[in-house]
Amino acid sequence: MFQTLQQMLVLILLLVTTTVHGSNAHERKAYIVYMGELPEAETSVMDDHHNLLLTAIGDQKVARESKIYSYKKSFNGFAARLLPHEVKRISDEEGVVSVFPNTLLKLHTTRSWDFLGMRKTFRGGNRKVESDIIVGLLDTGIWVGAPSFSDKGYGPVPAKWKGKCVTGGNFTGCNRKVIGARYSNLENQDPGTVNLSPADDDGHGTHTSSTLAGVHVRGASLYGIAKGTARGGVPSARIAMYKVCWTMGCSDMDLLAGFDDAIADGVDLISVSIGGPSRNLFEDPIAIGAFHAMKKGILTSCSAGNDGPYTSTVQNIAPWIMTVAASGIDRQFRTVATLGSGKRFFGIAINTFSPKRKMYPLTSGTLAANSSGDTFGNASACDYGTISMDKVKGNIVFCMGNSGQDYTIKELGGAGAIMALDERTDIAFTTLVPGTFVLPIDGIRIEHYINSTKNPQAVIEKTKTYNISAPFVASFSSRGPPSIALNILKPDIAAPGLDILAAYSRLATITGDPTDKRHALFNIISGTSMACPHAAAAAAYVKSFHPDWSPAAIKSAIMTTATPMKIKEVEAELGSGSGQINPIKAAHPGLVYDISISSYIRFLCKQGYNGTSIGLIAGGHKKYDCSKFQPAQGTDGLNYPNLHTQLKKNSSRILATFHRTVTNVGHDKSVYKVKVTSPRSLSIRVFPETLKFNSLHQKMSFKVVVKGGLKRNETQIISALLEWKDFKHSVKSHILIYRPLE
Ligand SMILES: *[C@@H]1O[C@H](CO)[C@@H](O)[C@H](O)[C@H]1NC(C)=O
Ligand SMILES: *[C@@H]1O[C@H](CO)[C@@H](O)[C@H](O)[C@H]1NC(C)=O
Ligand SMILES: *[C@@H]1O[C@H](CO)[C@@H](O)[C@H](O)[C@H]1NC(C)=O
Ligand SMILES: *[C@@H]1O[C@H](CO)[C@@H](O)[C@H](O)[C@H]1NC(C)=O
Ligand SMILES: *[C@@H]1O[C@H](CO)[C@@H](O)[C@H](O)[C@H]1NC(C)=O
Repeated sequence: MFQTLQQMLVLILLLVTTTVHGSNAHERKAYIVYMGELPEAETSVMDDHHNLLLTAIGDQKVARESKIYSYKKSFNGFAARLLPHEVKRISDEEGVVSVFPNTLLKLHTTRSWDFLGMRKTFRGGNRKVESDIIVGLLDTGIWVGAPSFSDKGYGPVPAKWKGKCVTGGNFTGCNRKVIGARYSNLENQDPGTVNLSPADDDGHGTHTSSTLAGVHVRGASLYGIAKGTARGGVPSARIAMYKVCWTMGCSDMDLLAGFDDAIADGVDLISVSIGGPSRNLFEDPIAIGAFHAMKKGILTSCSAGNDGPYTSTVQNIAPWIMTVAASGIDRQFRTVATLGSGKRFFGIAINTFSPKRKMYPLTSGTLAANSSGDTFGNASACDYGTISMDKVKGNIVFCMGNSGQDYTIKELGGAGAIMALDERTDIAFTTLVPGTFVLPIDGIRIEHYINSTKNPQAVIEKTKTYNISAPFVASFSSRGPPSIALNILKPDIAAPGLDILAAYSRLATITGDPTDKRHALFNIISGTSMACPHAAAAAAYVKSFHPDWSPAAIKSAIMTTATPMKIKEVEAELGSGSGQINPIKAAHPGLVYDISISSYIRFLCKQGYNGTSIGLIAGGHKKYDCSKFQPAQGTDGLNYPNLHTQLKKNSSRILATFHRTVTNVGHDKSVYKVKVTSPRSLSIRVFPETLKFNSLHQKMSFKVVVKGGLKRNETQIISALLEWKDFKHSVKSHILIYRPLE
């Protein structure tokens, strides 16, 4: 009866609206309709999706054609091409959590493990368990031929694995190390590609995968630079790649397909070095995917973004995600430019070229200017089109700029480029020609030498490594505080992400430039993209000791055992969260701050998400009445390892209360005493001050009250440290109070 009535309505709609749709077909845009958890009953999710589209669109054929993809393995939803009024209609339908436009997200582009104390000889206590761990990455694909993915000595694929290996293009198959590979390219992001396959034609996915779980490879280097043994954090673990990024970027639709597959395939952990601007948690594919992963016991590690050093730039801030900032290690790549006068200038760059001559003639962009005078741009900066080939050819050129000058000099047949930075940098870029980046003050000195010397000369040496003090937060690493879920401190943790040597794809050049001819088995690149798999590996390492721990418990272990980072700027924990990961300590944290699904749900209620949507996301319930549900307590409403609050712009007083529960995972009988380190402007009281545990897995609760006054007309960042200490453990929670300037 209902069926026929609905069909009648549909028929009427169809008659009214067909013409409109016909003419607007080209205006249809891709949207994602997110519907929460899969229904428990044996209903056809595909039929539901079609019926929803039919209700909104009216026409059977148009409805069918508008659908792009159904998510139905790990959560419920679909992607479709819709018109604005159809979006409105679908949003109003029962069973729909959110409808949001498909957007493109960006990639957040070996010694690092030694630096973290995981020595080559170090064997995890649980290699057997580790080899059963399957890490899933959503990335640009993988090049299985890299020595880092050799499966020599690996046993059969773990029995729990339900994934697939999709071949085609340049992708010839998996092995016992890389056990799964799929791709999603729902809107053909890469027209004309020969490589519709999980093959990595970018290099990024090969790099992140090998950082996470690559095997030991001796004598790894980039053209002899950074020579040593390369390896991932959990070298015995297995890898599954979900290629979701193409030339144009990584679309929401493809990311969701990657999560849908990865969760169902049986990965133990997901690493996503991708992001975009913060959105409502249930209009954000990474937050949605990570939520459903978390429900299945899978932790998702994500990069914090590369928009630093500015505050409020952190991405991937959902509380069930581990948000990773990038730190620098104690190694810096320096490239020296020596002038004919003998003066040496230390630049920061990766120059793989060895000079063939003792000296080369040196000129400057200003002197090499194209005299025709009708060109746009700035010759002193060697901007494209401003300098003449006859004055550049065979010369090293000094340029007062640093955005792609090496490309211009290469095209004009120059022998090298000395480029001046705008400001001090910590990141070493690989140059296309012999080149280096010097400080602006050194740039003026070099130009002065050129102007005042008859036959100016220079040579650019091959890059050498230098020891510097570390760790520090990389300049580009995105900073907190988060712009949504305001009382959860993000990023959570920092891990090495600056100048990281790891495996690379044979299908990509080392700079990604098509004119570059250099391919290498290893490459050195930077980004929170590189930090994310380091932290993911730490999580896999902890899981190898505690396979039954929840994602929140694993994350807590990593956060509370991290090494707090000294940061010179005022930004403190806004840059590094709890500090630098310490995987070995994280395996034995003493206490953990666990978070169950029901407390995440209370948190979502407190954040103002409506009960109907929460019911759909949580599954099982038809509706969720937040008012009847025991409300989340305290300032943040979540049992988070760090304590954070953002105050209103004009507030002058701090008053925050945090309720916390810790679970004993150390020794059965243990006594922890609290220690608070705080500036005088804060009063921090903890009730009770001692926790006495009688057994393992016992839970105990405490309350933290933070009070204080604030100065006027100033951005306020006040940080403190709360530690629970027994004879062996120190369980650290950072307290951060933030008030923005007017
Ligand atoms: C990738 O595939 C293309 C097209 O089949 C082929 O020309 C090319 O040689 C392949 N590259 C590698 C490195 O295998
Ligand atoms: C050219 O670049 C130099 C150095 O960066 C700068 O001082 C100058 O103002 C620029 N000139 C123009 C016309 O933009
Ligand atoms: C100078 O610039 C003009 C316009 O871009 C170009 O046509 C010409 O070839 C350039 N001259 C030299 C010597 O590079
Ligand atoms: C070098 O000479 C150029 C052109 O005469 C001039 O624009 C520039 O300011 C000089 N730079 C220095 C550091 O002397
Ligand atoms: C760098 O120096 C520190 C402190 O002197 C030392 O502990 C570390 O091993 C050095 N690293 C390298 C690569 O030499």
